[in-house]
Amino acid sequence: DWTPDAFVETTVAELKEKLNDDKVILGLSGGVDSSVAALLLHKAIGKNLHCIFVNNGLLRKNEFHDVLEQYEGMGLNVKGVDASARFLNALAGESDPEKKRKIIGRVFIEVFDDEAHKVENAKWLAQGTIYPDVIESVSVTGGPSATIKSHHNVGGLPDYMKLKVVEPLKLLFKDEVRRVGASMHMDPNILGRHPFPGPGLGIRILGDINEEKVKMLQEVDHIFIKGLKDWGLYDKVWQAGAMLLPVNSVGVMGDERTYEKCVALRAVESTDGMTADWVNLPYEFLQKTSNDIINKVKGVNRVVYDISSKPPATIEWE
Ligand code: XMP
Repeated sequence: DWTPDAFVETTVAELKEKLNDDKVILGLSGGVDSSVAALLLHKAIGKNLHCIFVNNGLLRKNEFHDVLEQYEGMGLNVKGVDASARFLNALAGESDPEKKRKIIGRVFIEVFDDEAHKVENAKWLAQGTIYPDVIESVSVTGGPSATIKSHHNVGGLPDYMKLKVVEPLKLLFKDEVRRVGASMHMDPNILGRHPFPGPGLGIRILGDINEEKVKMLQEVDHIFIKGLKDWGLYDKVWQAGAMLLPVNSVGVMGDERTYEKCVALRAVESTDGMTADWVNLPYEFLQKTSNDIINKVKGVNRVVYDISSKPPATIEWE
């Protein structure tokens, strides 16, 4: 019978034997899979695991700082690389969804490659690939491994991809990954996280991206997600987030007519992201959240809730 404790024990032993004193590089995304992979490898080889966590400037509010702190608290040898400006510069003026994805993927590879070169004599690249990633083309987990996969045929191979690959979670399903993490006492906040796409808010800001829009959407998203947690709804939802729409609409504030941004909130139930139903969130929650967003986030005067299921609508709007 499969148990998480036994899996941890045998996997750590196998990793020790396979990796010996070799140095291993791993890209952390803040998601469940890469975090659990990191913790397993850390148990096996300690400081020889070199984790890299890239801020692409499109993460949730405070995410880079908070997650980095959590990783450090777990004892991981992790380097946070804030490459926000590099990503935002490369994205300036681009509004095509697929081109935005390509740019984000390409810059990620460049940044990661630069950092990987700084780890002398690295022999291995570890990835948090799980079983569904092996059989599906789009990873629902997002993060570095997904980015690497969808872009590895663009141009020549970056150097880190010439490293030998180690994927300790390759045979596990998501719920098993969570159980493995729990058996290693990983923070429930990391284990219970909603999936978040690799390109992050970059595909939730419809149209072109700039710092001001990122900040605006981060605030909206933060109010929504914090609200879901405060109301005990977060764990009932598979994935949630906000979209910044490329339209202004007319509103009124005091005696003034406003012409400001509209945001869409999305919350779905799903098992694997391939199909999804919109969640019937309580009206009182939607009412409070909408008021909070409009009162607190400057530049937003309208909130809508997305009541489309997949198919035919996708989860993301881009
Ligand atoms: P869609 O929008 O296709 O999303 O219904 C299904 C799941 O995949 C995630 N997603 C992505 N993840 N890179 C990723 O790593 C991407 O480009 C990407 N696009 C969508 C989405 O968040 C959902 O979980």
